Amino acid sequence: MFTRRFIGASLGASAAFGALSTPVSAARPQKKSAGAKFRWGCATSAYQIEGAVNQDGRGQSIWDVFSHTPGKIANGDTGDVACDSYNRYREDTQLLKSAGANAYRFSIAWPRIFPNGVGQPNPKGVDHYHRVVDDLLENGIEPHITLYHWDLPAALQGGWQSRDTAKAFADYAGYMAGELSDRVDHFITMNEFRSFVEAGYLGGMHAPGLHLSMDQLHQVGHNAILGHGLAVQAIRAQAKRPVKIGIAENTSSPVPVVETPENIAAARAAMRNINSQYLTPIMEGRYPDDRLLEKAHPPKIESGDMAIIGSPIDFLALNVYAPTYVRAAPESSTGYAVVPGPQSFPYMGLKWLKIGPEAAYWAVRIASEVWKPKSLYISENGCPSDDVVVGGQVNDTDRVMFLRNYVANVERAVGEGYPLDGYFIWSLLDNFEWAEGYSKRFGINYVDFSTGNRTPKLSAAWFRQFTKERGVR
Ligand code: FCB
Repeated sequence: MFTRRFIGASLGASAAFGALSTPVSAARPQKKSAGAKFRWGCATSAYQIEGAVNQDGRGQSIWDVFSHTPGKIANGDTGDVACDSYNRYREDTQLLKSAGANAYRFSIAWPRIFPNGVGQPNPKGVDHYHRVVDDLLENGIEPHITLYHWDLPAALQGGWQSRDTAKAFADYAGYMAGELSDRVDHFITMNEFRSFVEAGYLGGMHAPGLHLSMDQLHQVGHNAILGHGLAVQAIRAQAKRPVKIGIAENTSSPVPVVETPENIAAARAAMRNINSQYLTPIMEGRYPDDRLLEKAHPPKIESGDMAIIGSPIDFLALNVYAPTYVRAAPESSTGYAVVPGPQSFPYMGLKWLKIGPEAAYWAVRIASEVWKPKSLYISENGCPSDDVVVGGQVNDTDRVMFLRNYVANVERAVGEGYPLDGYFIWSLLDNFEWAEGYSKRFGINYVDFSTGNRTPKLSAAWFRQFTKERGVR
């Protein structure tokens, strides 16, 4: 069965292996430390936190339709109210501040800006994001904006199956850059192609809930990365001053199962191969030749598409959760094999979330070695926990353990000189976790979904102390 993500990663799994990390020996870039400019932030996305689905002229998204379809979401949950952050965003800014964050990654709901996907913008929706940005800046928090975190306007009937959606996305992205670029520096075009394309159009567990053929699926993927490329160009054309544009992908973090030079080379091969449908063409301007699956089911590629898809970006953002352990496999045409494991998780009942803190180091290092991006971010990292409020406290020591171990690897990457410029915890708040509804709490702030009340967890206090020690405020 398909898990929520990593459908591609599971394709090449083979032999088991034993021991994990050994000390690194290869030549390293020079030491440096995370300076005051490093972004220690938190992340959210619009449909997961905003609620207010009928407020101020917002149009419907495919997630409204999907979450209201019986049987699709755990407990029949929907994002209708969520954390009500559309109305409580000022409170959320204060939570960021008190958790010691100096940056916030959030997304804009496309259907609030263009309720029909295209056409006339909705001024009330646009004003809302102006207010959010102003409030963040007044509180010393740098906004990092994602333009597409899966809430496609439902009015775009063809969805990502249609090339027209790529053009519509670029129009929306360019428009928002024109609105916000006077004071926003960082724009992420899209979040996690592999998740929204494969879970939405192949596995059917995410909106729009389809089970397409491989041919159709590859067309969806192609249209999506084309949308990214067109958006990069539209943002550059319409921004009021030079801004930084990037992409956020879950690369599935290939980790050499033992740190031998051969396994490290295998991790580089795995990075390109696992991401061959989305990130590799974005970073290289072409689909890799050795990807048999795409060769058997090729998308329709129009002339000029690949140059658009490969439009230069300013940073690469990685959502890092689970490692994919790999080893060298001279017997395989890809040169690597996936080592099954770790065996003893899924963590908190989420099949895709296996703990492997070293993924934070290796994702950054391997992506740097393969694509040499000017700048990298870890745009998401975090875990759910069975949080309960007892006497006004939420003692999520398991989440603190998780984060502490991942950030140690973030600091290793920075210390070795990889151009990592920020790290964002998923998530600021407990929120609507897609098909899991509200059953999985990822926040460093607890949300009582019956009242909307927020309670900072122990992990928020930990982050406050951690960032203070790193010179944030
Ligand atoms: C990521 C998604 C984010 C959230 C976390 C747990 O893949 O980008 O919206 O669901 O996983």
